[in-house]
Amino acid sequence: MGIVDEDVRKVRDESDIIRIITEHTQLKKTGAQWMGLCPFHGEKSPSFSVNAEKGVYYCFGCQVSGDVIDFVREIEGLDFAGSVEFLAAKTGISLRYTDQNEGRRRNRRKEYAEIVQKAVDSYHRRLLEDPAARPARDYLRARGYGGEVARRFQIGWAPDDWSLLSRELHLSDEDLKATGLGGINKRGGQYDFFRARIVFPIFDVQGGPVGFGGRKLPDGEGPKYKNTSDAAEYYSKSDVLYGLHWAKAEAGRLDELVVCEGYTDVIGCHLAGIERAVATCGTALTPSHARLIGRFARRVVLAFDADGAGQAAAERVYAWEEEFGLQFAVAALPEGADPGDLAGSDPEALRRAIDGARPFLEFRVDRVLARGDLDSAEGRARAATEAMTLVAEHPDSLVRDQYAMSIADQCQVGIDELRRRGAAAVAAGLRGRAVPSSDGTAAGALPGAGQLTSETQALRLLVHRPDPISVHLSPVLFDDGLNRAAYLALREAGDLHGARAEAEPDVADLLGRLAVQDATDDEPLGVLTRLAYLAAERAAVRLEAEARSSGDLAGYQPVISFLRTEVMKLREPVAKGADIEELLTWLNDHDEGAEGRVDG
Ligand code: UTP
Ligand code: MN
Repeated sequence: MGIVDEDVRKVRDESDIIRIITEHTQLKKTGAQWMGLCPFHGEKSPSFSVNAEKGVYYCFGCQVSGDVIDFVREIEGLDFAGSVEFLAAKTGISLRYTDQNEGRRRNRRKEYAEIVQKAVDSYHRRLLEDPAARPARDYLRARGYGGEVARRFQIGWAPDDWSLLSRELHLSDEDLKATGLGGINKRGGQYDFFRARIVFPIFDVQGGPVGFGGRKLPDGEGPKYKNTSDAAEYYSKSDVLYGLHWAKAEAGRLDELVVCEGYTDVIGCHLAGIERAVATCGTALTPSHARLIGRFARRVVLAFDADGAGQAAAERVYAWEEEFGLQFAVAALPEGADPGDLAGSDPEALRRAIDGARPFLEFRVDRVLARGDLDSAEGRARAATEAMTLVAEHPDSLVRDQYAMSIADQCQVGIDELRRRGAAAVAAGLRGRAVPSSDGTAAGALPGAGQLTSETQALRLLVHRPDPISVHLSPVLFDDGLNRAAYLALREAGDLHGARAEAEPDVADLLGRLAVQDATDDEPLGVLTRLAYLAAERAAVRLEAEARSSGDLAGYQPVISFLRTEVMKLREPVAKGADIEELLTWLNDHDEGAEGRVDG
């Protein structure tokens, strides 16, 4: 998987797991084991154990486990290869890659990282020392950012000059463009991308600089912020979260990450003692962001202007909650305030707003009701109806129903009528709207969300307590390509660590997330039944389409009616195991996706 096996083994053997782990938590030796507080979940008495001889760790509290490579993967938020590289750098092992292009790409990224680091240093030194940076220093100080803060966040000053940085760094044209630090003008000369701006370096999860956000001074020209261009090879805005490497420790401990809108919001949060704050860099949250967040925390608190948080994100939030095991909440910021300003004027209020964050849907419903006119019958009916359209977007009927009851209560309307309207809104949603999948491409109808849940639950069960379910599972039950690949990887390797070592990065990533999730509430037979139900539905729909296009309706009739009957049976609350057996056999024999699908 990129790096030559022998080198991976060498890295695993020669890395000192105790030393690596003690950078994150204190370990005490008791017998053959080392024990300490788990760095992956908050706890007061130690349940995290490390066996130095075997080179593995295990937490009795949250069940995370793995070897030194897994540990670095989890704690630093790296993929498998990145984790091996991280350790290789520490042990001084040079790596060989199975794929020459992959090796070249990795090496090139290493070079870019060094170049951007030089730019960070140069800009930073300039901010602190250059007489010409005085207005920038004054501006920052006026915002409450003295030298201490500038150093902590490595803030810099890009000089008011067309090509000072380019001249200083002596880069090839290709490197200059690939790092986003500059470009080539019409006459073939190099120019700097950031000019006369305060620059906030953006780091990757490990703390390697990848780009900048550049803010103009109040009387400067151009847009308020200019960020490293997404066209630069080394930088991808949908994969970075500003501040994540500072935030990841607290986020892991508290299982919560605060997502703000801008650089100064993150800095403000950190200064106010909220060290689990990050921001997107000139973009809305993307699926990659959600996936990235899921590696560190389950709860996501959105700390930006609630109006923005509402509409744009709604459709995706629920899909991500399902897919990445996240829970979104919204901080109750005072109207019009942004966290950056609030941190300066009233840090206590900022902490209150974040601590008092309410679930995404609750926040939005409350706001509609708060703005509604609840003093008249017409106003109450309108508010209730409007609130119910928000509720209808939620994929879980049990959640929807609780909101319906609460809204009926607050608006003094009849629960039955409200339920009917809710159901109608849900049905309208089913027909009209699609939930985007994680990669932002193919869209499934709303039930897709539930399907993701069942598939995820099945995988999670397979990881945590395989016995009751494993014999019944099969590829055909997984509609999602990534889930199917994860299932196959688990089946092939027989255990989590083997599967993760062999799998492609996104599969390994999914398995890693499942490994740290809790499967105790997953009910094996129920999960299996739902998967069979969904697979049968898919097969029936597919065959019905085939039947229509072939014109041979009669020929297809028996098998379609078999599937439809099975589907009906499985709708019963509790289906007997024997019922599934026959259907599963049929499904396995008719697995359309077996060859056609790309399994990652
Ligand atoms: P804001 O306009 O809210 O800026 O943009 P801010 O974070 O409050 O910054 P200060 O405190 O005024 O300095 C929020 C984010 O939107 C992106 C940036 O990433 C910024 O941090 N943005 C904003 C741009 O990319 N371009 C712009 O022109 C403005
Ligand atoms: Mn702002």
